[in-house]
Amino acid sequence: MTKRLLSLSNVRTVVLLAGVALLASSCSWGLWDSPMTTVRPRSDFGKWIDEIFMLISWTTLVIFICVESALLYVCWRFRDRPGAPIPKQVHGHTALEISWTIAFAVVLLIIGIPTIRIIFRTQEAPAATALRVDVSGKQWWWEFSYPDLKITTANELHIPVGQTAAFHLHAPDVIHSFWMPALGGKRDVVPHRVNRIVLTPEVPGEYLGQCAEYCGVSHANMRFRVVVHPKGEFEAWVKNQQAPPAESTDPLAQQGKALFAQSTCVGCHTITGVSAGQIGPNLTHFGSRKSLAANLVANTPDNVAKWIENPDHLKPGARMPNLGMTVEQSKALAAYLLSLK
Ligand code: CUA
Repeated sequence: MTKRLLSLSNVRTVVLLAGVALLASSCSWGLWDSPMTTVRPRSDFGKWIDEIFMLISWTTLVIFICVESALLYVCWRFRDRPGAPIPKQVHGHTALEISWTIAFAVVLLIIGIPTIRIIFRTQEAPAATALRVDVSGKQWWWEFSYPDLKITTANELHIPVGQTAAFHLHAPDVIHSFWMPALGGKRDVVPHRVNRIVLTPEVPGEYLGQCAEYCGVSHANMRFRVVVHPKGEFEAWVKNQQAPPAESTDPLAQQGKALFAQSTCVGCHTITGVSAGQIGPNLTHFGSRKSLAANLVANTPDNVAKWIENPDHLKPGARMPNLGMTVEQSKALAAYLLSLK
């Protein structure tokens, strides 16, 4: 009877463990291809990091299997039995001690040599043909400027596939970290110094980015989008960004424009031909962006109006003040800003 009960509980345990394993594997397969994945690299930089990650994972898996097998064997082989003698002691076995010291030195070399090689490779200076992008991490948004192209944008980074991009990272306020998981780039953005990431995106598409260093109350809301343009499309984007914004003649948008020009908005934001503020994001082509408030919400009239009415509600601690705009005024401003394509 006891034996039957035991076997029944064993079956239950096995079924439970199998269920957990299945669940874990399905979850991890989902994560494998999630928007913030780092194990599906889409750039040369990402592939180098992934190579090291895989090398370390496989090496440690082999070590894990060897150590656990030895442990299980020893536990079983030398288990306590009635009347069994004390096993032979190996304390002070010089040959064993020398061999495992050598074995672990070899493991360190297997991991260390490629890692150091990649550290140096990812620090190399960019080629003269690289596209330079100055990245400024601010509480809590990102400014991207292209000094050679005379373009400044915010929270939406555009780069062409197959061309090396050199990101020069600086922070005017506190330490941030610039991270584009799918492209492999992650590096601290530190006040009073310029760090660099140089990479060549290999697959066109839209990727997510995120600040990866705690930088204050809205750290988690400091996101951005990366658009890797297919061949030939980047030039069209550049041309559009360099041109003055196309404005709507819609009366509501025109009302918004007048309101913008009279309000304190102009002290913080640049709109080419209208204002020259430098504190907040450049809004010249605001309507061409897909998201708002550092990639928190979609760039729709409703969301823009709500943001203007109370920025702090959407992004706690936001530097943009509540200007006391009425609902109608916010709607007019949103219509104007979204018309800036
Ligand atoms: Cu910026 Cu966290």
